[in-house]
Amino acid sequence: MKIRVEKAEQLKVKPDEDKLGFGKHFTDYMFVMDYDEGQGWHDARIVPFGPISMSPASMVLHYAQETFEGLKAYRTPDDRILLFRPEMNAKRMRNSNKRLCMAEIPEEMFVEAVETLVAHEKEWIPHLEGTSLYIRPFIFATEVAVGVHPAISYKFIIILSPVGNYYPEGVNPIKIYVEDEYVRATKGGTGFTKCGGNYASSIAAQEKAGKLGYTQVLWLDGVERKYVEEVGTMNVMFKIDNEIYTAPIDGTVLPGVTRDSCIALLKEWGYKVHEEHFTIDFLMKAAREGKLEEAFGTGTAAVISPVGELNYKGEIAMINDFKTGELTQKLYDTLTDIQWGKAEDKFNWTYEVKR
Ligand code: COI
Repeated sequence: MKIRVEKAEQLKVKPDEDKLGFGKHFTDYMFVMDYDEGQGWHDARIVPFGPISMSPASMVLHYAQETFEGLKAYRTPDDRILLFRPEMNAKRMRNSNKRLCMAEIPEEMFVEAVETLVAHEKEWIPHLEGTSLYIRPFIFATEVAVGVHPAISYKFIIILSPVGNYYPEGVNPIKIYVEDEYVRATKGGTGFTKCGGNYASSIAAQEKAGKLGYTQVLWLDGVERKYVEEVGTMNVMFKIDNEIYTAPIDGTVLPGVTRDSCIALLKEWGYKVHEEHFTIDFLMKAAREGKLEEAFGTGTAAVISPVGELNYKGEIAMINDFKTGELTQKLYDTLTDIQWGKAEDKFNWTYEVKR
């Protein structure tokens, strides 16, 4: 793909690496490419990060044809730059776009765009332990029209943000509120996609949980409201009686890259992993009987995030005395060592950025 570069007049001052937070700072440049029916994807460019102008009648503003992805670039101790399984994000984005009847980006094109922008912005990849460059590709409908139909024009943009931890708790346990009023997804809907609409409809529950002192919500299935699905910004796994339980990928749960990687590691370590439906009652009973040994979320932003407490209809399940469990820590260490190029990458998950 031919990618032209438009020079910025001035570069930004980079933020302190120990005060990055998450998603607050953006690099000097972004990648932009347009799609028009009959022409396909065209005009790939790296341009200064900045406002985009579009018509108030752009279809995304009315009917929310928008999908996004999240992945990271890591700086290794010997100064190489690694991505983690970017082809999985590319594939998931195609699946999201298919569901929303949006133009799809070929996987190689997605990876090439990410790699080229990251290489261009390599000075922005932070050095401090636990920091990385968050990559946010997104696609939205730009056709100027009022009326519901698949748009005939789209924009694909990638922005980059140097980040630290997603949660203010860092890698310490978080408290989770089990949501039994609002629902996130039902079969046949868009639960398996990464579309902005899924997150928009989750905010009310997130706000409610926040007011009660909880960092995130645990979603139950949208029909019977009893099967455990995922947490607001991550998939979730439970260690019960030395076996692992997580919801299956069958339409309502996001097929997480970190989720998939954790399952591979856990199986390699000999754990039985149940990717199956299980109820919140099963989970709370296990907690009451002292069998709920550990719980953790998995996600690109969240990495591996220990869960220390669940609140379901006022009943509190305290997990591992609100301390990070041994297995949770081992997964965090193993995964992040692979991602930062500090451990052998047996599964061939890392992708070195050419620079
Ligand atoms: C990610 O983990 O990359 C996400 O997109 C989750 C969240 C920031 C919405």
